[in-house]
Amino acid sequence: MFLVTGATGHLGSAVVSQLLKKTKASEISVLARDENKASALKTKGIDVRIGSYDDTSSLDKAMQGISKLLLISGNGPNRLQQHKNVVIAAKKAGIAQIVYTSISIKNMKTAAIRPIMESISLTEDLINESGLKYTILRNTLYTAGTPLFGGDKVLKTGIFLPTGDGKVPFALRREMGEAAGNVLLHNGHENKTYEITGSTLYSYEDVARELSALSGQTVSYTDADPSVFVTKIKDFGLPEIVNQIVAGFSADVKNHQFEKVTKDLENLLGRKPATLNASLKEIYNL
Ligand SMILES: NC(=O)c1ccc[n+]([C@@H]2O[C@H](COP(=O)([O-])OP(=O)(O)OC[C@H]3O[C@@H](n4cnc5c(N)ncnc54)[C@H](OP(=O)(O)O)[C@@H]3O)[C@@H](O)[C@H]2O)c1
Repeated sequence: MFLVTGATGHLGSAVVSQLLKKTKASEISVLARDENKASALKTKGIDVRIGSYDDTSSLDKAMQGISKLLLISGNGPNRLQQHKNVVIAAKKAGIAQIVYTSISIKNMKTAAIRPIMESISLTEDLINESGLKYTILRNTLYTAGTPLFGGDKVLKTGIFLPTGDGKVPFALRREMGEAAGNVLLHNGHENKTYEITGSTLYSYEDVARELSALSGQTVSYTDADPSVFVTKIKDFGLPEIVNQIVAGFSADVKNHQFEKVTKDLENLLGRKPATLNASLKEIYNL
C-alpha cells in the first residue's frame, strides 16, 4: 500500500494520476489535511487519511499498513520539524521505503534561498539518519514557476527578473509527478538520490524567446537590477515571503546554482522530458 502526502497539491495530484494508471485505487492512500479538498480522490476509491505534518498522532494512524511512503516537501516555516514528524512516524510504523521530494541545487550552503529552503535539503539528513530505505528526488525548478517569477501577465509585460545569464533545466511538474509515481511503483530505486531535471539548460531570456515564438507577440526579457527588482516586486501585491522566495531564487539562478542536468528524469519517464517549448505551450495554453 502506498501513502502519498501532498496529494491535494499539484505535484501530489500528478503522482496519484500516474499511480492510478498503473495500479488499483485500493492500493493507494493519501494524507490530506482537508477532507473536502480530497473528496475527488475518495470518489475514485482512494483511501483518504486525514492528517497533517504537524499532528503526530494523525501521522501514526496514517502510516498503518503502508509499505511505501511519498513525502512531498511542505511549504510552511516549520518545515523541518514537520518533516521530522513524518520520518519518525514512518520509522515507528516500519514502512519499507520513504521517497522524498527535495531540491536540486549546486550548493545550498551558499544559496540566497538558504534561510527559507535549507530545511528541504536538511530533511535528506533526517531520512539518512533514520535508517529507512529511501529514494531522494531532488527536483529542479518547475517550468510552471514562470508565471510567478515573471509575473502572471508575462505575455504583455515581458520578463523582468534579476537572473542575468543564469540557466535552469526547467521541468514540467506533471512529469516530475509521473517520475515519482514510477519510483513508488517499481523496485530498484532503494537508497538512491536522483536529480530530477529537464534535459537542457535555459535562461529566462530563452523563456522569453520561446514565449514570443509561441504567442506571436514580442515577450522581452530584462535583466533587472536586483535592488530595483526588490522594490518593484512589491507592486505585484504578493505576500512578503513570496517576494523573498522569488528574489532569492532569482539570485541563485544568476549565480548558476541550478545549472545541473542529468538523465534521471528521462530514465524514470522512459522518454525525453518535454522541451521548454512544449512545456510553455501547455502552461500558458498557447
Ligand atoms: N521545484 C519547484 O519549483 C517548487 C516550486 C514550489 C514548491 N516546491 C516544493 O514542492 C512541494 C510540492 O509542490 P506543489 O506544487 O505540489 O505544491 P502545492 O500545490 O502547494 O501542494 C503542497 C501540498 O502539500 C500539502 N501540505 C502542506 N503543508 C502540509 C501539512 N502541514 N500537512 C499535510 N500536508 C501539507 C498541501 O496540502 P493542502 O492542500 O491542504 O494545502 C498540498 O497538498 C511544495 O510544497 C514545495 O515544498 C517546489
